[in-house]
Amino acid sequence: MIHYLDFTEDITPEQLQGFFQGWPNPPSPETHLRILQNSDEVVLAWDEDAGRVVGFITAITDGVLAAYIPLLEVLPAYQGQGVGSELMRRMLARLEAYYMVDLLCDADLQPFYARFGMTPATGMIIRRYDRQSGRQIRSTSPG
Ligand SMILES: CC(C)(COP(=O)(O)OP(=O)(O)OC[C@H]1O[C@@H](n2cnc3c(N)ncnc32)[C@H](O)[C@@H]1OP(=O)(O)O)[C@@H](O)C(=O)NCCC(=O)NCCS
Repeated sequence: MIHYLDFTEDITPEQLQGFFQGWPNPPSPETHLRILQNSDEVVLAWDEDAGRVVGFITAITDGVLAAYIPLLEVLPAYQGQGVGSELMRRMLARLEAYYMVDLLCDADLQPFYARFGMTPATGMIIRRYDRQSGRQIRSTSPG
Protein backbone atom coordinates (compact mmCIF):
# COMPACT_ATOMS: atom_id res chain seq x y z
CA MET A 1 0.00 0.00 0.00
CA ILE A 2 1.43 3.37 -1.05
CA HIS A 3 0.88 6.43 1.17
CA TYR A 4 1.77 9.99 0.26
CA LEU A 5 3.54 12.15 2.84
CA ASP A 6 4.29 15.88 2.74
CA PHE A 7 6.86 15.83 5.56
CA THR A 8 10.28 14.29 6.12
CA GLU A 9 10.31 13.84 9.89
CA ASP A 10 11.18 10.25 10.81
CA ILE A 11 12.59 9.51 7.33
CA THR A 12 16.08 7.98 7.52
CA PRO A 13 18.77 7.65 4.83
CA GLU A 14 18.28 3.86 4.91
CA GLN A 15 14.72 4.41 3.66
CA LEU A 16 16.03 6.38 0.66
CA GLN A 17 18.02 3.72 -1.20
CA GLY A 18 17.99 3.30 -4.98
CA PHE A 19 17.26 6.83 -6.22
CA PHE A 20 19.19 8.93 -8.77
CA GLN A 21 19.22 6.04 -11.23
CA GLY A 22 21.72 6.61 -14.03
CA TRP A 23 23.46 9.53 -12.34
CA PRO A 24 27.25 9.01 -12.62
CA ASN A 25 27.96 10.86 -9.36
CA PRO A 26 24.68 10.68 -7.38
CA PRO A 27 23.94 12.28 -4.02
CA SER A 28 24.26 9.80 -1.14
CA PRO A 29 21.07 8.83 0.74
CA GLU A 30 22.22 11.18 3.53
CA THR A 31 22.52 14.04 1.04
CA HIS A 32 19.18 13.03 -0.50
CA LEU A 33 17.58 13.44 2.93
CA ARG A 34 19.13 16.93 3.22
CA ILE A 35 17.69 17.82 -0.21
CA LEU A 36 14.22 16.73 0.95
CA GLN A 37 14.53 18.58 4.26
CA ASN A 38 15.75 21.81 2.62
CA SER A 39 13.09 21.90 -0.11
CA ASP A 40 10.15 24.27 0.37
CA GLU A 41 7.69 21.56 -0.63
CA VAL A 42 8.11 17.80 -0.77
CA VAL A 43 5.83 14.86 -1.42
CA LEU A 44 7.01 11.32 -0.74
CA ALA A 45 5.50 8.03 -1.88
CA TRP A 46 5.89 5.64 1.03
CA ASP A 47 5.47 1.88 0.64
CA GLU A 48 4.03 0.82 3.96
CA ASP A 49 4.81 -2.87 3.44
CA ALA A 50 8.42 -2.33 2.37
CA GLY A 51 8.99 0.49 4.89
CA ARG A 52 10.74 2.67 2.35
CA VAL A 53 10.35 5.71 0.17
CA VAL A 54 9.61 4.63 -3.42
CA GLY A 55 9.10 8.01 -5.05
CA PHE A 56 9.58 11.69 -4.32
CA ILE A 57 9.08 15.16 -5.75
CA THR A 58 10.56 18.43 -4.51
CA ALA A 59 9.88 22.12 -5.12
CA ILE A 60 11.67 25.33 -4.24
CA THR A 61 9.83 28.65 -4.20
CA ASP A 62 10.24 32.39 -3.52
CA GLY A 63 7.03 32.27 -1.53
CA VAL A 64 5.37 34.87 -3.79
CA LEU A 65 5.42 34.28 -7.55
CA ALA A 66 7.65 31.45 -8.62
CA ALA A 67 8.08 27.76 -7.94
CA TYR A 68 10.52 25.31 -9.48
CA ILE A 69 10.34 21.53 -9.43
CA PRO A 70 13.93 20.25 -9.56
CA LEU A 71 13.39 16.53 -8.89
CA LEU A 72 10.78 13.84 -9.49
CA GLU A 73 11.68 10.17 -9.39
CA VAL A 74 9.95 6.86 -8.83
CA LEU A 75 12.00 3.71 -8.14
CA PRO A 76 12.08 1.48 -11.25
CA ALA A 77 10.08 -1.35 -9.63
CA TYR A 78 7.26 1.09 -8.85
CA GLN A 79 7.11 2.93 -12.18
CA GLY A 80 4.11 2.67 -14.49
CA GLN A 81 1.63 2.33 -11.62
CA GLY A 82 0.52 5.94 -11.34
CA VAL A 83 2.90 6.91 -8.51
CA GLY A 84 4.69 9.61 -10.52
CA SER A 85 1.37 11.10 -11.63
CA GLU A 86 0.07 11.18 -8.07
CA LEU A 87 3.27 12.87 -6.84
CA MET A 88 2.94 15.45 -9.60
CA ARG A 89 -0.78 16.06 -8.89
CA ARG A 90 -0.15 16.52 -5.20
CA MET A 91 2.79 18.86 -5.77
CA LEU A 92 0.86 21.02 -8.25
CA ALA A 93 -1.96 21.27 -5.72
CA ARG A 94 0.53 22.51 -3.12
CA LEU A 95 1.82 25.07 -5.64
CA GLU A 96 -1.54 26.22 -6.97
CA ALA A 97 -1.16 29.78 -5.60
CA TYR A 98 1.95 30.51 -7.68
CA TYR A 99 2.06 32.41 -10.97
CA MET A 100 4.99 30.38 -12.33
CA VAL A 101 5.63 26.66 -11.90
CA ASP A 102 8.64 25.55 -13.93
CA LEU A 103 10.59 22.38 -14.48
CA LEU A 104 13.06 21.02 -17.00
CA CYS A 105 12.72 17.66 -18.71
CA ASP A 106 13.83 15.70 -21.74
CA ALA A 107 11.59 15.96 -24.81
CA ASP A 108 10.29 12.39 -24.37
CA LEU A 109 8.79 13.35 -21.01
CA GLN A 110 6.89 16.38 -22.31
CA PRO A 111 3.72 14.34 -22.98
CA PHE A 112 3.81 13.12 -19.35
CA TYR A 113 3.94 16.69 -18.01
CA ALA A 114 1.42 17.95 -20.58
CA ARG A 115 -1.17 15.76 -18.81
CA PHE A 116 -0.96 18.17 -15.90
CA GLY A 117 -1.53 21.28 -18.02
CA MET A 118 2.15 22.14 -18.48
CA THR A 119 3.33 23.59 -21.78
CA PRO A 120 6.75 23.38 -23.48
CA ALA A 121 9.17 26.29 -23.09
CA THR A 122 12.81 27.00 -23.78
CA GLY A 123 15.38 27.65 -21.10
CA MET A 124 19.05 27.94 -20.22
CA ILE A 125 21.01 25.90 -17.70
CA ILE A 126 24.38 25.30 -16.09
CA ARG A 127 25.38 21.80 -14.99
CA ARG A 128 28.56 21.30 -12.94
CA TYR A 129 29.00 17.54 -13.05
CA ASP A 130 31.82 17.58 -10.51
CA ARG A 131 29.20 18.79 -7.99
CA GLN A 132 26.46 16.33 -8.95
CA SER A 133 26.67 14.56 -5.57
CA GLY A 134 25.86 17.81 -3.78
CA ARG A 135 27.34 21.09 -2.64
CA GLN A 136 30.14 20.64 -0.12
CA ILE A 137 29.29 21.99 3.30
CA ARG A 138 32.33 23.79 4.67
CA SER A 139 32.72 23.82 8.42
CA THR A 140 33.21 27.36 9.68
CA SER A 141 36.35 27.96 11.66
CA PRO A 142 35.82 29.38 15.13
CA GLY A 143 36.38 33.10 15.50
C1 LIG B 1 8.97 10.02 -14.98
C2 LIG B 1 8.55 9.17 -13.80
C3 LIG B 1 8.65 9.97 -12.51
C4 LIG B 1 7.11 8.71 -14.00
O1 LIG B 1 6.72 7.99 -12.86
P1 LIG B 1 5.69 6.76 -12.98
O2 LIG B 1 5.29 6.39 -11.61
O3 LIG B 1 6.25 5.70 -13.84
O4 LIG B 1 4.52 7.53 -13.74
P2 LIG B 1 3.01 7.06 -13.92
O5 LIG B 1 2.88 5.59 -13.69
O6 LIG B 1 2.14 7.96 -13.14
O7 LIG B 1 2.79 7.43 -15.45
C5 LIG B 1 3.50 6.73 -16.35
C6 LIG B 1 3.31 7.37 -17.68
O8 LIG B 1 4.41 8.25 -17.91
C7 LIG B 1 5.06 7.87 -19.10
N1 LIG B 1 6.51 7.95 -18.93
C8 LIG B 1 7.21 7.64 -17.83
N2 LIG B 1 8.53 7.81 -18.06
C9 LIG B 1 8.64 8.22 -19.33
C10 LIG B 1 9.74 8.56 -20.15
N3 LIG B 1 11.00 8.52 -19.71
N4 LIG B 1 9.49 8.95 -21.40
C11 LIG B 1 8.23 9.01 -21.85
N5 LIG B 1 7.15 8.70 -21.13
C12 LIG B 1 7.36 8.31 -19.88
C13 LIG B 1 4.70 6.44 -19.33
O9 LIG B 1 4.70 6.18 -20.72
C14 LIG B 1 3.33 6.31 -18.75
O10 LIG B 1 2.36 6.57 -19.70
P3 LIG B 1 0.99 5.69 -19.75
O11 LIG B 1 0.25 6.05 -18.50
O12 LIG B 1 0.33 6.18 -20.98
O13 LIG B 1 1.42 4.29 -19.79
C15 LIG B 1 9.42 7.88 -13.69
O14 LIG B 1 9.41 7.20 -14.93
C16 LIG B 1 10.85 8.13 -13.28
O15 LIG B 1 11.16 8.22 -12.10
N6 LIG B 1 11.76 8.23 -14.27
C17 LIG B 1 13.18 8.43 -13.98
C18 LIG B 1 13.48 9.80 -13.43
C19 LIG B 1 12.93 10.90 -14.32
O16 LIG B 1 13.04 10.86 -15.53
N7 LIG B 1 12.32 11.90 -13.67
C20 LIG B 1 11.77 13.06 -14.33
C21 LIG B 1 12.81 14.11 -14.46
S1 LIG B 1 12.20 15.51 -15.33
